[in-house]
Amino acid sequence: MAANLKWAPVLALVVVVAAMVGTTSAGNIAVYWGQNGNEGSLADACNSGLYAYVNIAFLTTFGNGQTPVLNLAGHCDPGSGSCTGQSSDIQTCQSLGIKVLLSIGGASGSYGLSSTDDANSVADYLWDNFLGGSGSSRPLGAAVLDGIDFDIENGQSAHYDDLANALKGKGSVLLTAAPQCPYPDASLGPALQTGQFDNVWIQFYNNPGCAYANGDDTNLVNAWNTWTSSITAGSFYLGVPASPQAAGSGYIDPGTLTGTVIPAIRGIGNYGGIMVWDRFNDVQNNYSSQVKGSV
Ligand SMILES: *[C@@H]1O[C@H](CO)[C@@H](O)[C@H](O)[C@H]1NC(C)=O
Repeated sequence: MAANLKWAPVLALVVVVAAMVGTTSAGNIAVYWGQNGNEGSLADACNSGLYAYVNIAFLTTFGNGQTPVLNLAGHCDPGSGSCTGQSSDIQTCQSLGIKVLLSIGGASGSYGLSSTDDANSVADYLWDNFLGGSGSSRPLGAAVLDGIDFDIENGQSAHYDDLANALKGKGSVLLTAAPQCPYPDASLGPALQTGQFDNVWIQFYNNPGCAYANGDDTNLVNAWNTWTSSITAGSFYLGVPASPQAAGSGYIDPGTLTGTVIPAIRGIGNYGGIMVWDRFNDVQNNYSSQVKGSV
């Protein structure tokens, strides 16, 4: 018994390393929260233990000299200041190690950047009102978000490279982007060429030419290859609909995702995990619960 004790530290190390290997074998899940008042609170989403990243969706109006507008559907009313109540939820998420970002853009916003100066102004606004700066009327209150997610979908790509560079220049700001799967992305192409993005969650839905379709992942794997070999980014995420209702096309059932699609891409490029659109559909379809641990 006594003779074995000298090996105790070695054994302990082996156990710790084995545990680390076990926990790092699965990728992360990122989710969008904010566009459906019936999806539960931000704190509920984080307390589910499913996600490593939550993108608060969306800042729907910015740039071109416009007064920025936050839209969180039925969750709160930014105009009356009631969204400042989200601060405690954001801090709950962060205390769990979850990164919380503000997603700018979306499918139906009014946004665009008219010049480098305009991009710099938007960067200043985001820094002062959502990040480490000190603005007078922070829409989400005092909580300091971890970063900014670019979900630019209107086909106007000008000056988002300037915005990315300006935000990174401010210090510790996580930058992520959600391009569509056709490469290069019509809106985010030049921005992604900066190489400034930590995570890129590619939307593999509503795009039959590169998404999963008719039981076939050939186009998806080809697009994944193109993306991960063409862009410099920290890691790449497979963006999927959380339910058949979450997107017009591209839904991959949980068994196919973990059994076929993830095994086909996880070894290619800097695979980070999956992104799901969105929290509402994830709750309805129990999607992330079924795939977590195998993505
Ligand atoms: C959701 O999925 C998990 C994992 O498969 C399962 O344990 C749980 O019972 C499911 N919940 C619902 C409500 O279906």
